[in-house]
Amino acid sequence: MPTIIHIQETTSTNDYLQQKIKNELLEEGSVVVCDFQTQGRGAANNKWESEKNKNLLFSMLLYPDFVEIKKQFIISQVVSLGLVDYLNTITSGFTVKWPNDIYWQDKKIAGILIENNLRNNFLSESIIGIGLNINQIKFLSDAPNPVSLKNIMGFDYDLGTVLTDVQKSIFARYLQLLQGGTSRIQKDYKKAMYRNEGFYLYEDKNGVFLAKIHQVKEEGFLVLETENKEKRQYAFKEVLFKIL
Ligand code: BTN
Repeated sequence: MPTIIHIQETTSTNDYLQQKIKNELLEEGSVVVCDFQTQGRGAANNKWESEKNKNLLFSMLLYPDFVEIKKQFIISQVVSLGLVDYLNTITSGFTVKWPNDIYWQDKKIAGILIENNLRNNFLSESIIGIGLNINQIKFLSDAPNPVSLKNIMGFDYDLGTVLTDVQKSIFARYLQLLQGGTSRIQKDYKKAMYRNEGFYLYEDKNGVFLAKIHQVKEEGFLVLETENKEKRQYAFKEVLFKIL
């Protein structure tokens, strides 16, 4: 069985796990979870806010050594779907905002920070950092539109139970990938996307425009289609989802 290592405090569970695997062989699917991070990291150099003991802050270890570097976005898709699969057993309305923010309606409930170690053309270890808001009800930082399970459902959740359920759910999607499920995962990801259907406002370096999601490429690029059927392709951070 994959292990769960529980620590009270660390800089970042991603860094802790990265250090740990230097001198210990951990089983695939193992998790490091902590009560508090002093330097929790978000995507694009942002900080990750989390009140002590209120939320899940953890990193999961995978060895996806069959995944080519240029196809690494599939790991993001696996993890996002694992989280959404689990959350949708609680209530409906959870989606993946490209590339890998987990949303409930127009609010963010979880963030994912994946750090891959590489060997030749392939991944070797994948450190999957997840911050999932559970019992925190007030968010102090300037993080846009945060939400927690408690905000949504009105009561507290047991962090240990949620962790083992989420771990199972992500691992189930990973097994699907191992068993040749790439195209199923890509289809399910598209279906699970925030703004999967219909026209919405987006903003790129040239301004605000109306478009719908056309596809997400294997390399992770988002392709939007404007009203006059022009396709526009974006890498992470090149386009903003305008939320009114
Ligand atoms: C994001 O910006 O959306 C990604 C946030 C990822 C936060 C998690 S919390 C556990 C792990 N350790 C970190 O330092 N970051 C990730």
